[in-house]
Amino acid sequence: MATHLGFLLLFSLLLVNAYSQSCTNYPDTASTKCNCTEGLSRSSFPPGFQFGAGSAAYQIGWQMVIMEMWPLMHTIDTRAEFEHYVDVCFSRFGDRVKNWITLNEPWTFAAYGYDSGSMAPGRCSEWMDLNCTGGDSGTEPYNVTHNLILSHLAAVRRYWRYYKPRQEGRIGITLVAQWYEPCNVSNGDAEAADRQMSFFLGWYLGPIVNGVYPDDMIEHVGERLPTFTDEQTQELQHSFDFLGVNYYTAFYVNNTPSDPTKLSYTTDSQALTSGKFPIFPFAKFKLHIFSFHLTHFVILPWLACCNDQRIAQPAGSSTWLNVYPIGLKKLLLHIRDTYGDLPMIITENGNRNDLKTWASLPDDSSVEASLNDTDRRDYISDHLCCLHQSINEDGMDVSGYVAWSLTDNLEWCQGFTQRFGLNYVNVTENNNFTRTPKLSAEWFTDFLRREPEPSISLKAGDTIDSLYSTSI
Ligand SMILES: *[C@@H]1O[C@H](CO)[C@@H](O)[C@H](O)[C@H]1NC(C)=O
Ligand SMILES: *[C@@H]1O[C@H](CO)[C@@H](O)[C@H](O)[C@H]1NC(C)=O
Ligand SMILES: *[C@@H]1O[C@H](CO)[C@@H](O)[C@H](O)[C@H]1NC(C)=O
Ligand SMILES: *[C@@H]1O[C@H](CO)[C@@H](O)[C@H](O)[C@H]1NC(C)=O
Ligand SMILES: *[C@@H]1O[C@H](CO)[C@@H](O)[C@H](O)[C@H]1NC(C)=O
Ligand SMILES: *[C@@H]1O[C@H](CO)[C@@H](O)[C@H](O)[C@H]1NC(C)=O
Ligand SMILES: *[C@@H]1O[C@H](CO)[C@@H](O)[C@H](O)[C@H]1NC(C)=O
Repeated sequence: MATHLGFLLLFSLLLVNAYSQSCTNYPDTASTKCNCTEGLSRSSFPPGFQFGAGSAAYQIGWQMVIMEMWPLMHTIDTRAEFEHYVDVCFSRFGDRVKNWITLNEPWTFAAYGYDSGSMAPGRCSEWMDLNCTGGDSGTEPYNVTHNLILSHLAAVRRYWRYYKPRQEGRIGITLVAQWYEPCNVSNGDAEAADRQMSFFLGWYLGPIVNGVYPDDMIEHVGERLPTFTDEQTQELQHSFDFLGVNYYTAFYVNNTPSDPTKLSYTTDSQALTSGKFPIFPFAKFKLHIFSFHLTHFVILPWLACCNDQRIAQPAGSSTWLNVYPIGLKKLLLHIRDTYGDLPMIITENGNRNDLKTWASLPDDSSVEASLNDTDRRDYISDHLCCLHQSINEDGMDVSGYVAWSLTDNLEWCQGFTQRFGLNYVNVTENNNFTRTPKLSAEWFTDFLRREPEPSISLKAGDTIDSLYSTSI
């Protein structure tokens, strides 16, 4: 038995290796950046621009609340409950909270909770063979998202009507977005990249800007995609004061036909990115072998490459986080081209390190590397460079940047093994979660503290940019 298992394990590792090997190349990192010629600081950004660092226990808390309250969110209309919940928040905290976000990454909840089932409440189609507790990946994600969008609308309407006039705050939603590049334009990959953008971002942004789902989703999902009433379409249009954008990564996209007998949200887009879990015979086979560590294999991405290349260098050993700062600039341009000039805040952006165990015991050598996080400093500074260009050159209406995250925190199901913090959290017993600033925390503090340059009188030929010459 042991030999048998050993053989299967080796065989599978060879298979996994065969797939990952073809994706170990990536282009020169220079081509993924925005080439800021001068060092940036807070003063390079417009007056009033807000910087921050987010953190929360809510990623896990939010899932648990939803799991307890709405295990059947695909069938139960949750608008009334959500409206009641937000009303408590507005009435109790609205005198102090001036920027409200109705939902954080609803995509993550709908796709991972009801399509792959890899997160709470863990639902997916039986044919996926992923040991879900029930579900239908071809319909439930769409119903859940529909429900979430209408819940968002109910919250916004309540705030606008009863609270905004006197509390004078703003309300928005935070959507996670990625950038996509077609692999080979002559293979229909360009259309596939557009579809993927519609299925990922347009699924939410279409309804809250235009009151309808994107055309290519309607075309590919057909009757399984719910529809809005005329009244809902009216009310949904521009139903936010600002749009929160979470940006981390980018992928190459390959045009991929789907199997009409096996419908799911992931395959409906007929676009394969390396960020997707595999729903193919190969995956099923693998899962039978690895009856243990199921989750890890479920979310193991299909490493879709483009001519043996990933789009960019990954963060450490990450399968999904490709460091592609220029994608932020391209994404913001795409949003404006498709949905118009929207007031935006970058509500999350950051880099992760992996630790071997979630508690990271003191003898874990990765802790030291985690504290010397030059990669996180470079990640944030390179993205701020692109954001600076988006604002100054492209004229984007972005009023804030929030680094993810202030401290290491419970990242979804990965807990403390995936750390995004600017500050290290020591999770070992009896030390009260002591926090230690990483190198990136010191860098970010310095970036924010740096005084604006003294005002200089403009000479002919000077540009605003040339007046800021501090270096990082
Ligand atoms: C930055 O420079 C690299 C290398 O010269 C180039 O490939 C890339 O396109 C440049 N990025 C921008 C935004 O101009
Ligand atoms: C999705 O919603 C539609 C319309 O409300 C309903 O008819 C259908 O049964 C729902 N699907 C699932 C899987 O719950
Ligand atoms: C793109 O696809 C075409 C048609 O399938 C093929 O001939 C060509 O070699 C591909 N280009 C690259 C760079 O892979
Ligand atoms: C499948 O799910 C059941 C019930 O949640 C659980 O007891 C079992 O361990 C799971 N099997 C695998 C292989 O993960
Ligand atoms: C974490 O806490 C343990 C126990 O208090 C201590 O031995 C270790 O040095 C701490 N590690 C860091 C990086 O602070
Ligand atoms: C931190 O990492 C950089 C490379 O990223 C290395 O050059 C430097 O020596 C490291 N510093 C310490 C204190 O380990
Ligand atoms: C943790 O907190 C408790 C209670 O405040 C305190 O007695 C203890 O000394 C703290 N431990 C450490 C390692 O700081």
